Amino acid sequence: HRIACVVAARPNLMKMAPILRALAACATPIESILVHTGQHYDADMDGDFFTTLGMRAPDIQLQVGSGSHAAQTALVMERFEPVLETTAPAAVLVVGDVNSTLACALTAAKMQIPVLHVEAGLRSYDRAMPEEINRVLTDQLSTLLFTSEASGMHNLLREGIPAARIHFVGNVMIDTLQRELARAAPVLDVLRQVNLAGFLQHDTRYALLTLHRPSNVDDPRRLRMLMETIVKLSEDVPVLFPLHPRTRAMLQRYELGKLLDTPRVACLPPQAYRAMLGLMKQASLVLTDSGGVQEETTALGIPCLTLRDSTERPVTVSEGSNAIAGRDASVILALSRDILRYGGKAGRIPTFWDGHAAERIAGHIGRWLSINEEPG
Ligand code: UD1
Repeated sequence: HRIACVVAARPNLMKMAPILRALAACATPIESILVHTGQHYDADMDGDFFTTLGMRAPDIQLQVGSGSHAAQTALVMERFEPVLETTAPAAVLVVGDVNSTLACALTAAKMQIPVLHVEAGLRSYDRAMPEEINRVLTDQLSTLLFTSEASGMHNLLREGIPAARIHFVGNVMIDTLQRELARAAPVLDVLRQVNLAGFLQHDTRYALLTLHRPSNVDDPRRLRMLMETIVKLSEDVPVLFPLHPRTRAMLQRYELGKLLDTPRVACLPPQAYRAMLGLMKQASLVLTDSGGVQEETTALGIPCLTLRDSTERPVTVSEGSNAIAGRDASVILALSRDILRYGGKAGRIPTFWDGHAAERIAGHIGRWLSINEEPG
């Protein structure tokens, strides 16, 4: 049995690595073909992750690069279709909610190739997020849907997906986190790498910030407000801020980078997996608009403030260490100061975030493949 497995953007890699391992170890022989669409392509967004996570190089590269939503989605489809024609896989496995996820799911579904979606059913109920559209449509096109938290099942049932297709398997991103945790980089090593060894010399604590959602960084007023808030927060605690390429581009475009030119805020290049894990693990507080970081901080028990109005990962709030801070400067500052003063809630680890999600997925896929090959 051959399955085409698609990766595209940085967070896909941490999700796919354990799945490839589990498919290779599955009782039903499964041959995986690894397809990289090339949505992310910079070495620091992509290259390190393959080596660190023990992933083999992609078998097929589509090299689509950046573009508008329509252009990027269309180019992935155009280049993925001939790959499916020549490789004729029994199924296409996609993860997450990036543009390539939907593009590959749509291409496969039109060719009547079953789609298997990992991280199905997450909903922010905010259609202004491009990922929400990708999530809803990919789930509608999928034959097997693997959910990471209980909310996923409820959302999918409400959207009319038959229960028999949905499997609650847990969180594959946490499979990778558990495997790599012992190798997380010490913060001082990370700082040394970027010539900032002295940055924390007077502090034992720091806050970690990541931002990349278009709703936060593409709007100059919002981005200015967030940067001013961070500079204020840095009076209480130094802030480490690894910059996503989108965010770096927007800070330049709107000439806001100079706001961060203060001794208590350090902008870093995008970080390698183990470096980022080290930065999260030792932070007093994490502020983010990333979905993955909300989950990783919950797994680590590190207080997280989500700089958005909603989350598609509600278990990180109901059980984990996450809180929705919204986008009001005074609320963000007040919640941050509370955490610094009293420590945030530690939370607990959600069900099936236990390092074995990918094995469950491979088990379900193996059974599904065997049932489908039975005559009649
Ligand atoms: C994408 C995903 C988002 C995910 C994020 C993780 C979509 C709609 N968005 O957002 O869900 O959370 O990846 O990082 O699929 N760029 C580079 N180098 C790269 C990649 C991008 O410089 O290797 C720059 C380009 O200017 C590009 C911009 O970043 O235009 C945005 O890249 P894109 O892949 O469109 O979206 P992300 O913001 O990375």
